[in-house]
Amino acid sequence: MTLQEQVREAFGRHAGSYEQRASLQRAVAWRLARHCRDLPLVAGPCADLGAGSGLLSRAVQHLRPALQPLRLDLCAELLLQGARDGGGGAESLLWNLNAGLPPQLEQASLLLSSFALQWLERPEEQLEHWCHHLAPGGWLVLAVPTAGSFPQWLQAAARAGGPCSALPLPDAGALIDGTQRQLTLTAQQRLRFSRFAPTALTFLRQIQALGAGSTPTAPLTPGQWRRLEAAWPAEPAIHRSGQPRKRLTWEVLVLIGQRPAHSP
Ligand SMILES: C[S@@+](CC[C@H](N)C(=O)[O-])C[C@H]1O[C@@H](n2cnc3c(N)ncnc32)[C@H](O)[C@@H]1O
Repeated sequence: MTLQEQVREAFGRHAGSYEQRASLQRAVAWRLARHCRDLPLVAGPCADLGAGSGLLSRAVQHLRPALQPLRLDLCAELLLQGARDGGGGAESLLWNLNAGLPPQLEQASLLLSSFALQWLERPEEQLEHWCHHLAPGGWLVLAVPTAGSFPQWLQAAARAGGPCSALPLPDAGALIDGTQRQLTLTAQQRLRFSRFAPTALTFLRQIQALGAGSTPTAPLTPGQWRRLEAAWPAEPAIHRSGQPRKRLTWEVLVLIGQRPAHSP
């Protein structure tokens, strides 16, 4: 199975419980939606790229009811889940973003995307392609986890002398550089979010339960997991249950940019 097939299959299998577990994605979706509230939009299509069940589209529609982003995703089960969860009126399109954008998004007025770009085969290239699809005066509103994420996981894997099986994430600097070549950036933020759990294995199980556990690395053996767990630093502050806690940190890049009004 290719990585793309694994990704589609894993999100599909967990589609029914995605929204209950996607607290980080929900928080980021609302943050992006607030950025969209007052953007001066030109005419043209509007879409949510890798929309999943529509957390971002729904937040945008809530704050700006005139906008109805077209929801694009590779995973039919998540799109369907979104339609059931109150997105009945929203249009969706089953689409593989590794193949670029569909023709109906030429000259887009607004391209939104949250927590999806990192799943694509060449995120930097696809992001430049998205910028290129914007109409003059069109906006990109993006959030994507980047390579500064999971420092605890990377350090523990290095200390344990084993592989890190986290999904390799795109470099924030490269994404910013590529976007700046085509857009005027009005916001550029690197946000950090930490989660705590009693064991490192708990993080892996939570990521897998979201459908986001696909990775090009072979799964770790039980022995490799034991060594990784032992090498993962415990937090100095102990949880009130008396249990030590482990931390996992995401770095999420937020970019808001506009294509210059007189660009070719
Ligand atoms: C973590 S979910 C994020 C969904 C939504 N944007 C959110 O914030 O809740 C990642 C989404 O990217 C989609 N995705 C991954 N690879 C894709 C591809 N090649 N083409 C289209 N969608 C893709 C997945 O199906 C999934 O819905």
